[in-house]
Amino acid sequence: MLKIENLNQYYKQSHTLKDVSLECKKGKCTCLMGRNGVGKTTLSKVIMGLLGVQSGRILFKGNDITAIPPSARASIAIGYVPQGREIFSSLTVRENLQIGILSNRNGIKKVPQIIYELFPILKEMHARKGGDLSGGQQQQLAIARALCIEPEFLILDEPSEGIQPNIVAQIGDVIDYLTKEKGITVLLIEQKLPFARRHGDDFYILDRGSVTAKGEIKELSDEIIKQYLSV
Ligand SMILES: Nc1ncnc2c1ncn2[C@@H]1O[C@H](COP(=O)(O)OP(=O)(O)OP(=O)(O)O)[C@@H](O)[C@H]1O
Ligand SMILES: [Mg+2]
Repeated sequence: MLKIENLNQYYKQSHTLKDVSLECKKGKCTCLMGRNGVGKTTLSKVIMGLLGVQSGRILFKGNDITAIPPSARASIAIGYVPQGREIFSSLTVRENLQIGILSNRNGIKKVPQIIYELFPILKEMHARKGGDLSGGQQQQLAIARALCIEPEFLILDEPSEGIQPNIVAQIGDVIDYLTKEKGITVLLIEQKLPFARRHGDDFYILDRGSVTAKGEIKELSDEIIKQYLSV
């Protein structure tokens, strides 16, 4: 579904992504893991076209999308939930979702019912300002907004960060539904090991910009965890 080949990215002189190759298989949840500051968010921004690269390619369904503008990502069915959520705090829940709908590639005009079924709290709170929601509710809103484009591929950048356990569990259920029931491909950036183990199929570990380990999530050994992840 998504294939990254030998990607190199620099912030000025700083070589942040070093020859990164990665593959997300259709309908699977691929976990991108690694300690703080190793380049996980940078890689997600590169996939979204928000940052340019010095070399390497990004293929989506076999097409080279490395150079297409970020605004075109929604129309080819790539959805994105950035780290820190970035919802519009002065707009209502409904207005935030409407913004997602504006980018819908199938021309739908209303928020699909399934989104409210996945996140019932958003229906209850549809007139509330985004900024008045709890952190967990804002994360749910950010995911719901990304789902409004009806993506085939969804990037979630640390969706469980700083969120209360019951909402983390609900978000996990949504990830399972998207991959297992809908065949949507997910790239989950995640530092919490139990969450990655529960919902991931494959993993990649980044360490100072390089992929240092990868495999099926069941192969994620204690040794790898000790070496490359904060525990
Ligand atoms: N806009 C920027 N300009 C210069 N350097 C940056 C910029 N954004 C990030 N960096 C640096 O690039 C490196 C990778 O950052 P990145 O945000 O991709 O890490 P991360 O793995 O997502 O970390 P975290 O787990 O804390 O979210 C870090 O050293 C960071 O300081
Ligand atoms: Mg990050």
